Amino acid sequence: MQDLTIGFIGGGNMARALVGGLIAAGVPARNVWVSDPVEEQRATLAAQYNIHTTTDNTAVADQSDVLVLAVKPQQMRAAATAIALAVARRRPLVVSIAAGIRMDDLARWLDTPQLAIVRAMPNTPALVQSGASGLCANAWTDDEGRTIAEHILRAVGLVQWVPEESMMDAVTALSGSGPAYFLLVMEALHQAGVAMGLPSEQARLLTLQTAFGTARLALESEADAAELRRRVTSPGGTTEQAIKVLQEGQLEALFERALLAAQKRGASLAAQYGEG
Ligand SMILES: NC(=O)c1ccc[n+]([C@@H]2O[C@H](COP(=O)([O-])OP(=O)(O)OC[C@H]3O[C@@H](n4cnc5c(N)ncnc54)[C@H](OP(=O)(O)O)[C@@H]3O)[C@@H](O)[C@H]2O)c1
Repeated sequence: MQDLTIGFIGGGNMARALVGGLIAAGVPARNVWVSDPVEEQRATLAAQYNIHTTTDNTAVADQSDVLVLAVKPQQMRAAATAIALAVARRRPLVVSIAAGIRMDDLARWLDTPQLAIVRAMPNTPALVQSGASGLCANAWTDDEGRTIAEHILRAVGLVQWVPEESMMDAVTALSGSGPAYFLLVMEALHQAGVAMGLPSEQARLLTLQTAFGTARLALESEADAAELRRRVTSPGGTTEQAIKVLQEGQLEALFERALLAAQKRGASLAAQYGEG
């Protein structure tokens, strides 16, 4: 890992998070290249991490052992077709973090037979090294390639492999879009606290720390969420009253519907981006 040259096509938010994680994990800055058309992105990355930056995607593709594709999904086809010749020459391990771009479409745009491709779906907490990423690999990716991709994504948080690419829409619906669901719940709790008379700043901090502490408790516990919830819900107590109201409102069914809607949208975006 220390000796590999890692190149990024696209140097926006997610690439910056990954570069930061890799440097913190001990990858030498001299081995990291980022290509981005935006001067400000390049200047920030170079100043913060002392890595190489350029506007030349082909130069990055030509010298990378691992090539991370980190442009927006709608920019991916143009970016991939433009570096196809360099990718065919160098045959790097390709890691795509673009939401909704299928590996077959990527392989077609990169026009390189039997190319090892890993598709990853990180989420925004990656920006504070607390992300959760779902990963899948195509048939041409060997164990070494999988390990390298896993190391890269693990630099910004938890990594979970899924056995089939078709499951990536479910990963997108659960953890990709997941931060927004928790933020909505936090927003609702904050507002409810204020409605009950708490000062806004206190309601906000109590909400955020409760979310953080609960996630930490659940991660560090052997028990699952249902069991932990039972343990904090005393019969006849305050929590029981609130949970009863939430369950009468069919919160679980609502989340199931919400995630199915996100999954469906993910599949239709993949079909739309993959055209051509
Ligand atoms: N942010 C997230 O939470 C998150 C979560 C999961 C997955 N992702 C995926 O990560 C990818 C990057 O997201 P992001 O939030 O980092 O986006 P971003 O901040 O917009 O970064 C993308 C960067 O790539 C540049 N770019 C565009 N076309 C390029 C090209 N042909 N060659 C090189 N660079 C090019 C963009 O420049 P311009 O601004 O000039 O276009 C921009 O600076 C997306 O595909 C997204 O689906 C992001």
